[in-house]
Amino acid sequence: MRSLVLTYGSGAEALARRVSQISGSPIAEATRRQFPDGEQYVRVSGEVRDKDVAIFQSFAFSPDRLLVEYSLIADAVRGMGCRRVIGVFPYLAYARQDERFSEGEALSAKVFARLIEASGTDAAYTVDLHLHRFQTIKEVFEIPATNLSAMPLLAENYLKRAPGGRVLVVGPDSESSQWVKAVAEVIPSVCTILEKERLGDREVRVSDLSGSMCAAAVIVDDMISTGKTILEVLGKLKESGVKRVDALVTHSLLVEGAYSKLKEGGLNSLITTDTIATEHASVSVAPLLADALVRYSASGR
Ligand code: R5P
Repeated sequence: MRSLVLTYGSGAEALARRVSQISGSPIAEATRRQFPDGEQYVRVSGEVRDKDVAIFQSFAFSPDRLLVEYSLIADAVRGMGCRRVIGVFPYLAYARQDERFSEGEALSAKVFARLIEASGTDAAYTVDLHLHRFQTIKEVFEIPATNLSAMPLLAENYLKRAPGGRVLVVGPDSESSQWVKAVAEVIPSVCTILEKERLGDREVRVSDLSGSMCAAAVIVDDMISTGKTILEVLGKLKESGVKRVDALVTHSLLVEGAYSKLKEGGLNSLITTDTIATEHASVSVAPLLADALVRYSASGR
């Protein structure tokens, strides 16, 4: 078996340490700091020569700075003679701009992937990538890339707390059907997919619910940013008389007080992961990543 070493950027240090504990793979520590003018400095310490090095980085909140930090770490471990660089991106940014919606726009999802590749990345791993216009991660990356899903883990966590009985599983928009399907394989449920219209960065409109209701519902989505999407669906469910509504979401950015707004709106609980470091994470993707990385490194592909 080839040996695997883990290192990390500012966006995913805690997760890298969790994966290290589970997999037994050592950590190469990464020191990071900023110069007074804002430029970044990194230094990696540890034995990485001829090893596969998995660099953990989640690109939440300041993706541009974190991308440069990732690139510096990738160059550092290459300079130390590592065998391969595996980019582990629990949360990958810029994925929602997956089309040139208007003339003159950038195709940001592809640009971000190209920059990661240009940093000297041999393979990429991520979790519940926002796939909509791109059907698979292979259309986004040109290097070998794997998209893992936390949805089964989120659904299992919900089942442990659920009151029992049939649950209405709701997806806010067409792209959420992939995550709804994964959840419905674990939770006895009826599913409904709504239509969403985005009116602005902080405004969305979702279609009305139809069909029979259940006493409990879960809203399933890949990510929460401002919380508007979940709030809109939550409002519709409450108006329809659904007593208990929970949300199952992989990536929780929760900007601009989103968590408080969701609780005030009557959300019973947000079940989310640690792809982005948040106090609200109750499900860890560490076992998922540990398993995938150990298998990848052992296969020597
Ligand atoms: C977009 O389609 C995504 O799947 C999420 O629904 C969206 O990013 C959530 O954003 P917000 O919480 O700001 O409504």
